[in-house]
Amino acid sequence: ACPDRVTLVDVGPRDGLQNEAQPVPTEAKIELIHRLQAAGLKEIEATSFVSPKWVPQIADAAQVLAGIQRQPGVRYSVLTPNLKGLEAALPGRPDEVVVFAAASEAFSRKNINCSIEESIERFVPVVQAAQAAGIRVRGAISCAVGCPYQGEVAPSEVGRVAALMKSIGVQHVGVADTIGVGTPRAVQAALEAALAHYPLAEVSGHFHDTYGMAVANVYASLEVGIHTFDTSVSGLGGCPYAKGATGNVATEDVVYLLHGLGIHTGVDLPALIQAGAYIRGVLGQANGSRVARAMMAK
Ligand code: HMG
Ligand code: MG
Repeated sequence: ACPDRVTLVDVGPRDGLQNEAQPVPTEAKIELIHRLQAAGLKEIEATSFVSPKWVPQIADAAQVLAGIQRQPGVRYSVLTPNLKGLEAALPGRPDEVVVFAAASEAFSRKNINCSIEESIERFVPVVQAAQAAGIRVRGAISCAVGCPYQGEVAPSEVGRVAALMKSIGVQHVGVADTIGVGTPRAVQAALEAALAHYPLAEVSGHFHDTYGMAVANVYASLEVGIHTFDTSVSGLGGCPYAKGATGNVATEDVVYLLHGLGIHTGVDLPALIQAGAYIRGVLGQANGSRVARAMMAK
């Protein structure tokens, strides 16, 4: 049974902009967040407290988080791979922090320089400190259907990481097709593996559109009852450790799909399209959302 409402987490300011080759002004990042919340997004992944040596684009994480004029009812999340990241994030009072592990050993090494098990151990104090501060913890499971270094990833690997995350107190897991190779049944199998450990409300889908499958994969997720998705305004993004991966599925495209299905999102599509046009204008790039391109051409 398809859900009748869906929560979208716009990860464009983080997952999208972390990947830009050109420097993006801090004010533009903040303006994008303001436009997303004005368009009705209730969850925004704002930035990332990772090493700026690894991801130079996020060196202004603290300024971004501090610069947001917060809107009541909106949840602002940030990535924190270790205690250092969490401690740097805390003064900015994020509503949620995100720890990220991979379902593939090879990707774990490339992305966070440690094995899957080591990453989970590293998250233990992060989860404890976040929860002591009253902050929710979400976990992302990268390469949940395929890995750029290792090829296919079995659902059992996703299940293993989900179980580990559950065991350390992570409250929600996102099943991420980081390189966008997944097809609907494979994605459903990965989601089912996470659902063996978490309830429906605490599993989300995070799809990239590299092979053009992302919207189909959102639909496949709805079929198994998933009602939270990470999406990225105007399809911003890619992944610095996954060569050739395109952006996340565009928020505009998913909103169009959901509204067409009669599913409530709370998002104002024209305002969202303007937010996407704004950031693509700053970047001097074509819009990655098909829906935005079609509607702006009218
Ligand atoms: P490391 O080099 O093994 O760590 O990196 P380290 O502890 O040896 O630290 C190295 C240096 O970084 C030290 O500085 C630390 O202080 C500093 P130095 O002493 O050399 O001057 N450092 C930090 N600085 C700021 N914030 C921190 C931090 N931690 C250490 N939190 C580490 C390990 C995890 C830090 C590194 O690998 C890293 O930052 N990786 C992040 C990679 C990343 O952000 N990838 C993109 C996000 S994941 C993703 O996009 C996938 C996802 O979106 C799902 C999907 O799209 O499918 C979630
Ligand atoms: Mg992503």
